[in-house]
Amino acid sequence: VAGSVNIFDVEAEAKRKLPRMVYDFIAGGAGDEISLEANRDAFARATLTPRALVDVSDRRSDVVIAGTKMTMPLVLGPAGLARLVDRDGELAVARAAGKGGIPFCLSAGSSFSIEEVAKASGGPLWFQVYLWRDRDLVGSLIRRASAAGYAALVVTVDVPLVGRRERDMRNGFSAPPRLSLGNLVDIGRRGRWLRNYLAGRRITFQNLVGEADDAAQGDSAALLTDYVNKVLTNASVGWEMIEWIRDLWSGPLIVKGVMAVEDAQKAVALGSDAVIVSNHGGRQLDGCEATLDALPRIASGLDGRVPVLVDGGVRRGADIIKAMSRGADGCLVVRPWWWGLAVGGEAGVSEVIEMLRSELDLTQGLMGITALSGLRSSAADRSLGPPAEGGSAGSAPSSTRS
Ligand SMILES: Cc1cc2nc3c(=O)[nH]c(=O)nc-3n(C[C@H](O)[C@H](O)[C@H](O)COP(=O)(O)O)c2cc1C
Repeated sequence: VAGSVNIFDVEAEAKRKLPRMVYDFIAGGAGDEISLEANRDAFARATLTPRALVDVSDRRSDVVIAGTKMTMPLVLGPAGLARLVDRDGELAVARAAGKGGIPFCLSAGSSFSIEEVAKASGGPLWFQVYLWRDRDLVGSLIRRASAAGYAALVVTVDVPLVGRRERDMRNGFSAPPRLSLGNLVDIGRRGRWLRNYLAGRRITFQNLVGEADDAAQGDSAALLTDYVNKVLTNASVGWEMIEWIRDLWSGPLIVKGVMAVEDAQKAVALGSDAVIVSNHGGRQLDGCEATLDALPRIASGLDGRVPVLVDGGVRRGADIIKAMSRGADGCLVVRPWWWGLAVGGEAGVSEVIEMLRSELDLTQGLMGITALSGLRSSAADRSLGPPAEGGSAGSAPSSTRS
């Protein structure tokens, strides 16, 4: 991405390249976007305490989280319908993640199927499901992910109802996007986007083709967005569905979208192998606490029993170190890969990954940390294993862990 030195530059470029309503769909949050901003503010407020005169000439950033080896503690997190910004959608994201040696977590609501993405990817994949109303459908997706070799299952628990995204309401956003008199000029100006939109296959929930064909249609009579809101989403779901999924999936299970200590503990008690502290990027409950602020409480409430991941506003390599120094084992990013994808397809996503990697490496060195896998002070859990030989130079800086 010519001229871009950081993720914010890539986002600005993506904003120029995308129709307004597509950019807003990705960038936006719920309600007044208080939680969306709070996530970023928390990282801006968080400070780091470096250790001096440590030999940092040899730095290692590789870790193992929930059984998955990765070259740095970063996962490209789940988001549906990546075909909205690039003809290769999730295929391109998976390829870039694979080349970077980090996992991509495919959303159940993806525009390429579980099997297509598994075939394209050269690296570890995770699969994310929602607790949709149709249990047979959810069960079938889980069995398919298992058969296709996905390494971990992520279950998102923060969508009993779909948040109120006011930018989308104002823009009349729908998936697939509809042309209207109001957006014709705006769309006409976005050459890269338009070429990708017209060249690629029809935007649909590819995993649901043959499973729930009315959902997979995605014509104007059955908009995908309406289908998610009115048919798939299940307001009455409870923890029994986590138990049901635990029985169905034998690999690592990760519950995504916990903010309360009690929920994190409940998830672990029911057999979850890791948790993701997340408020869905401020897209669900507006007024929800920033994830970085909730993190130390949850990490100490779980007492090192399972890895803790966090997402929401991670935009710098230093943010990953900030999260780790507050009890996280790693982070997910989502909007950053969208921006890379919108600007340059697979190469754009790779560039985003490498920006974060080089910032992470520099921050790690300036902090006096030789190995990230030794950062976590209580490494008693089974998936992280003991700290790497030689460990970290200092212990977790200003860690709130006991
Ligand atoms: C456009 C978009 C679509 C998303 N779709 C999903 C999804 O399908 N499943 C899910 O668990 N989370 C979904 N999320 C939430 C992200 O996984 C993540 O929790 C959130 O975006 C915070 O990370 P970020 O600040 O790096 O974007 C979506 C987020 C965005 C922006």
